[in-house]
Amino acid sequence: MSVGTVRCAAPHLASPIACGQRLASPAGRDACRTAPNGSFLLRGAQRKRLRADRPPAVERAPVAWSDGRVQDETGQPANAPWWRSAVIYQIYPRSFADSDGDGVGDLPGIRSRLPYLRELGVDAVWISPFYPSPMADAGYDVSDYRDIEPIFGTLADADAMLADAHELGIRVIIDLVPNHTSDEHEWFRAALAAAPGSPERARYIFRDGRGEHGEIPPNDWISNFGGPAWTRVTESNGSDRSGHDASTPRSARGGRPAPDQRGQWYLHLFDPKQPDLDWTNPEVVAEFESILRFWLDRGIDGFRIDVAHGLAKDPEMPDLEGNWATGGPAVEGHPHWDRDEVHDVYRGWRRVTDSYDGDRVFVGEVWVQKPEQLARYLRSDELHTAFNFTYLLASWDAKSLHNAIDDSIDALSAVGAPATWVLSNHDVVRHVTRYGGGAVGVRRARAAALLTLALPGGAYVYQGEELGLAEVTDLPPEVRQDPAFARYDPGLVRADGGGGLRDGCRVPIPWSGDAPPFGFGPGSGQPWLPQPADWAALTVERQQADPVSMLALYQAALELRRDRPELGDGTMAWIDTDGDVLAFRRDPGFVCVVNVGGEPVAAPDAVRDGALLLSSDPLLPDGRLPGTTSAWYAV
Ligand code: NOJ
Repeated sequence: MSVGTVRCAAPHLASPIACGQRLASPAGRDACRTAPNGSFLLRGAQRKRLRADRPPAVERAPVAWSDGRVQDETGQPANAPWWRSAVIYQIYPRSFADSDGDGVGDLPGIRSRLPYLRELGVDAVWISPFYPSPMADAGYDVSDYRDIEPIFGTLADADAMLADAHELGIRVIIDLVPNHTSDEHEWFRAALAAAPGSPERARYIFRDGRGEHGEIPPNDWISNFGGPAWTRVTESNGSDRSGHDASTPRSARGGRPAPDQRGQWYLHLFDPKQPDLDWTNPEVVAEFESILRFWLDRGIDGFRIDVAHGLAKDPEMPDLEGNWATGGPAVEGHPHWDRDEVHDVYRGWRRVTDSYDGDRVFVGEVWVQKPEQLARYLRSDELHTAFNFTYLLASWDAKSLHNAIDDSIDALSAVGAPATWVLSNHDVVRHVTRYGGGAVGVRRARAAALLTLALPGGAYVYQGEELGLAEVTDLPPEVRQDPAFARYDPGLVRADGGGGLRDGCRVPIPWSGDAPPFGFGPGSGQPWLPQPADWAALTVERQQADPVSMLALYQAALELRRDRPELGDGTMAWIDTDGDVLAFRRDPGFVCVVNVGGEPVAAPDAVRDGALLLSSDPLLPDGRLPGTTSAWYAV
């Protein structure tokens, strides 16, 4: 321990491990306190004072690695790009903050809440799509990639938001949707107006149907939202696929305007209002490189790539014949997920971002089954990072979490990419609910937050997870907007709100006050999805005043993460533990212990002489971790 360091000697705690915060100065002694329920957290101002008092971070000598990157002796890349360590906060713009009282969030709303994000301590935001859109899939159906949806604001609002974010030291990643456009995109309108075989149709995936009259879809592919992945169009000139057009007398065409008189089919792996683009067409490739440049020139810091594993399709378009599960992570050899050709697209994109200054980044939404499949997207000339859904899908048990962590790190380190740790997003049931809901779910979510933020690499925080929001499972059918809901078999709706229905994790954020809209926007009207009345206890305002709230826990963890040289990018080493305990070391002097089980456990020997930095819930007086508790130690 360094000279001059003092330990908190809180009389209420018997063991130095239970409250052994290493304090850099005697002044810091006052800052250590036990919150009313006994959990150990420091107030913001106290934390700041401590930080100011803290000696400079340990000097680390750079080491050149064989792959050309430079890393220090702790395994952390020296001068590494920001995204290797970043904590990125996902903003779902419809549901974050509403500036004008129409019940839908918007860009000025986001801008007004940037100071909150600064205080929370995140490094960057990822904003789900904000482009003009008919909103058939909440903005993932884009009709113009170079503008802003009027509900959300204007390009000037986007520029102002970006400038403010940068001013506050927050980077901005935007969502890019390359697999499909909206059916109201000018390209698709042109495709419908043009004839089969035309250049306009060649930007999408149009095919003739099967059957005598083309009445059977070209193959048996299934939409992710349910039902066939093909929709048949009526040709604008009235022609059928045999080439007759409106100038041919109906009698000569066989008389009846029956289904056999309809036209080609187009592919949509999602909603019929989201036609898939044909990525073998150079025009599509060029258009998206131009879109990248449009936003990079405006100063954005990176792109989250929607359905990044979906762009390439088997040109033979073979039937699935029940060989492949629909939805879910992509398995190898699939005819429309995770195909080799997709990597060429990202090599081209990487050349674009590499030509810009400032470490611009791609993060891929890549739903694949194995981390090794994911790693292929993160080779040095492709994407920089990708969401780690293996971790998100792991259940709350030590073995499954341990395996997910190992598998992810092993696969990604083989290509030199950092892992990104994700617990929730706008497509999955919120993890408080996935982990059991109620008090159990919240307690697990607290423990999971400290595990997640201690792992090597970057991390994502989905808006509202820092408030401990649970899935809203009782939304009435008439307010639900997820396109999957309309096609859904109600018999499959799960009690946790999941099973493909995503409105329950998209309910607008409660900011303040005692009744909806909880400060989400001006006025008293309910927002686009109604908020539960009991969110009054979970508002930002309430939690900011509560030193042991979930918000206070995230803030404390993020502050430590910034201050501790061990956290963020780098390596970790497991510490041997029994049963339900996960423990690992981050060099030079940090240990995270997670008691995943329900019974108290002693902290491992590795932290016996250490100092507690933070715990998700109070430790026992003898220093043991109660069930479902994580703790961070300086050792
Ligand atoms: C993934 C997005 O996260 C999801 O919200 C969307 O529905 C699909 N891609 C289709 O764009």
